[in-house]
Amino acid sequence: MTTIRLPGLVDVHTHLRVPGQTHKEDFASGTAAALAGGFTTILAMPNTQPPITTPEILDLTRAEAQATARCDVGIFAGAAINNSHLLPLLAHHSCGLKIYLDQTFGPLRINDLATLMEHFATWPGPQPIAVHAEENSLAQVLGLAAIYQQKIHICHVSRRAELELIARAKERGLPVTCEVTPHHLFLNSDDAARLGPYGQMRPPLQSEYDRAGLWELLHFVDCIATDHAPHTRAEKESSTPPPGIPGLETALPLMLTAVDAGKLTFSQIIELMSTAPRRIFNLPAVEENTWIEVDTGAIWSIPQFGWQTRAGWSSFAGRTVRGRVERVILRGVEVYAQQIVMAAPGCGEVLF
Ligand code: NCD
Ligand code: ZN
Repeated sequence: MTTIRLPGLVDVHTHLRVPGQTHKEDFASGTAAALAGGFTTILAMPNTQPPITTPEILDLTRAEAQATARCDVGIFAGAAINNSHLLPLLAHHSCGLKIYLDQTFGPLRINDLATLMEHFATWPGPQPIAVHAEENSLAQVLGLAAIYQQKIHICHVSRRAELELIARAKERGLPVTCEVTPHHLFLNSDDAARLGPYGQMRPPLQSEYDRAGLWELLHFVDCIATDHAPHTRAEKESSTPPPGIPGLETALPLMLTAVDAGKLTFSQIIELMSTAPRRIFNLPAVEENTWIEVDTGAIWSIPQFGWQTRAGWSSFAGRTVRGRVERVILRGVEVYAQQIVMAAPGCGEVLF
């Protein structure tokens, strides 16, 4: 057994379904999945029911996180068509503003230019604006970031051309960062055809040309984020399957397998999954008594069942990976070991 110690990982893109859809996930189950995957901090998305677009709903969600989260949690505020006047209030207690310019799960979406301009003009920072912006929408938000001098973070980049455009924007000095997901790095449109609803998410799985492009241009990627988007098996097998797949418990094993294959290094994993996420979202430095232990030699097959996430399935089932989270220590307390979550609900902290 080769055990290495890594700093607690940070996932800057997690869907926890609080409030309103806790049959898919809640803070207790989602943060248990986070710990099992080696994440000690996660940032939760606002496309809940109702969406997190007012100070009241943000406060209620923070209180629920404080009472039930097993790892540290930050919460995004969502941009709605009618809430730009609330952004200064929402900024105090959120890890960033999330704007959806493209189709997603739930009704949160802005495609009216005047409203977008209002949000870019009003968001006070210093936290970034995280955007779901694909293809032409990406060019649109890069223009808005330049004009309003706002720090933007591009969520789940999935196409080669998008990453090339982000690279050009960075070369021009634009305040832009970006994330890619493990599913866009490890699966392509052929897998989508094989997986049916379990291969459906936004943005969709892309061609092999695009998937390979993400690896070729990995030096322009700031962080790996899971876009953990849990839905139940019954929902996925319905006639209208919602988009999204769980990812917290498989992200690190997949990335460690890529290290084993020579595609990146351990120090790149630390940068992409811990250091850069903390820097981009101004999170506190990892405490000395918070770390994870990983067996880099463990070879295992990703199972169909036995997950902490309430989704209870994985699109990667059947894949052999090398590398496994053995133990997680949060502020001196053993919170995960030998595949058992020991963390009590409420031991996580709410950030911001
Ligand atoms: C996400 C979800 O289910 O909330 N689904 C997805 O396919 N990624 C929404 C999103 O991230 O846009
Ligand atoms: Zn998402």
